[in-house]
Amino acid sequence: MQLSSLKIFHVRNLNTVNLHCNPVANVFFGSNGSGKTSFLESIYLLGRGRSFRQRDLRLVVQSGAKELVVAGTVLSDLSGSPSNLGVKRTIEGRFEARHNGRGLRSASQLAPKLPLQVVDAHSFILLEGGAMQRRQFIDWGVFHVEQDFGSVWQRMQRALKQRNHVLRHDRMDDEQLVIWTREFVTASDAIAQHRRSYLAELELEIASISKYFESLGALTMEYVSGWDKKLALADVLESDIERDQRLGRTHQGSHRADLIVKTEGVPAAERLSRGQLKRLIYILKLAQASLHKKRTAEACVFLLDDLPAELDPCHRKQVMDCLNQLSCQYFVTGIEKSDFKDLLVNVAHHMFHVEQGEISPA
Ligand SMILES: Nc1ncnc2c1ncn2[C@@H]1O[C@H](COP(=O)(O)OP(=O)(O)O)[C@@H](O)[C@H]1O
Ligand SMILES: [Mg+2]
Repeated sequence: MQLSSLKIFHVRNLNTVNLHCNPVANVFFGSNGSGKTSFLESIYLLGRGRSFRQRDLRLVVQSGAKELVVAGTVLSDLSGSPSNLGVKRTIEGRFEARHNGRGLRSASQLAPKLPLQVVDAHSFILLEGGAMQRRQFIDWGVFHVEQDFGSVWQRMQRALKQRNHVLRHDRMDDEQLVIWTREFVTASDAIAQHRRSYLAELELEIASISKYFESLGALTMEYVSGWDKKLALADVLESDIERDQRLGRTHQGSHRADLIVKTEGVPAAERLSRGQLKRLIYILKLAQASLHKKRTAEACVFLLDDLPAELDPCHRKQVMDCLNQLSCQYFVTGIEKSDFKDLLVNVAHHMFHVEQGEISPA
């Protein structure tokens, strides 16, 4: 996929932006506070319906404005045909997403229409933050390559909610508990299976993407299923029922899963330096994009915020070489124009200057 054009209205300090994108590289430079991250945030809004840096979208709407709008034309690598995507968010909280003029039921329907990968200064959270980050990382990948994953995931969430609801009742309805436990176990097992097979494929991609980078040692991944994997989840839940009832929630299952990324058999977060961890984040996301492309024939679009601040010149080059190899379109920001000069030799690109919320070709 690639974005061929983009319109932004009232996202933070970006009042009105209207631009044509290069199918390969798009570089945005400008001083601090000029609006570079807000620009990437706008693309993310278009592909995910939310922000990568702010939970409350009201704060993303420009001060004094009633709503934000982002619209773009996306070209499919597979069919070559264009489609129009648009999102709108009002300060009252109304959210609308459209595809070729038709309303979408939920923001999650945007994701396959514009598959995005983001790397910014907060991306460390993937390796150093809580398990939820890593579950989201795996699920993003499975969701895009396995047709029925979205519905199984929703089934598990619903069963979990209902089971927890039953557990919280003073006089527990045993029949309801049996029904929702069974449903939860079925969905939980299916999710674990999807995630494991996805990770097995991803591990192979990681090995081939790693070749672009200075070695971080042998990279492997261990999926932690969220319950003792030697036992059946149904048995685990039965023996844990007292605790679940006392605390009013389900303690074990695929909703508690985690992923441990290891280098030479040791958790990477405990062994690698900050600089090496950063590289690992890039490798993980590039590997995910590579697998996505193999399975769907569509390349991901990358948003790289402040790349020069994140990586030294040699590693920047490795990232860009890899992106070019995967035919991914990318939007990259930085303060100094000169930081990109050597990177863009023989690479098709557009350069833009960002200044006080105005974006102009440079
Ligand atoms: N809701 C908002 N309305 C208007 N301006 C905002 C809003 N939120 C943030 N800003 C301003 O937008 C500017 C752009 O920030 P940012 O995109 O992070 O800049 P950069 O990434 O170029 O350093 C900042 O000066 C910030 O104060
Ligand atoms: Mg910024």
